[in-house]
Amino acid sequence: MEYTWNVVHECMRITPPSIGGFKESTAECTFAGFTIPKGWKVLWTPHSSHMNPDYFPEPQKFDPSRFEGSGPAPFTYVPFGGGATICPGRSYVKLVILAFTHNMVTRFTLEKFIPNEKMLFGATPKPAYDLPLRIHPHKK
Ligand code: HEM
Repeated sequence: MEYTWNVVHECMRITPPSIGGFKESTAECTFAGFTIPKGWKVLWTPHSSHMNPDYFPEPQKFDPSRFEGSGPAPFTYVPFGGGATICPGRSYVKLVILAFTHNMVTRFTLEKFIPNEKMLFGATPKPAYDLPLRIHPHKK
């Protein structure tokens, strides 16, 4: 299911399920010309690096092949964060998403009820009308 997982990665690159979080600087440092004093809170967001064309050429284009081979550079694709506090649920999530997607795609045809349904962005992204679908079993 390598290709399926690459598709899931590309979905999470374009629409990260988490907006990110706050980190506290343990020492004064500089980033992009800005000084961040010790003790300040910094909001990191996956979206900002996922849409950086230096790391993801044509960032708006849906292209699962970005994740083939060794994939993106370290700490550029971060839907689960990174370092010591990286999401401990990520392996479980992989199992659930792959099992769900495999069964849905191999057994059913999905048809969006609202073709151009918009995404709403709050704490997490959500389809505006909760993604109503018509689900048909594959013909045998
Ligand atoms: C698609 C699903 C999920 C996404 C995108 C996600 C994303 C994230 C992100 C971005 C962080 C913050 C990482 C950081 O600060 O560097 C995080 C932390 C965490 N996640 Fe997830 N998560 C997911 C599912 C889960 C699940 C299913 C569990 C538990 C079964 C889980 C448990 C946790 C915990 C406990 C932390 C805090 C880790 C710490 O601060 O040391 N997550 N997650």
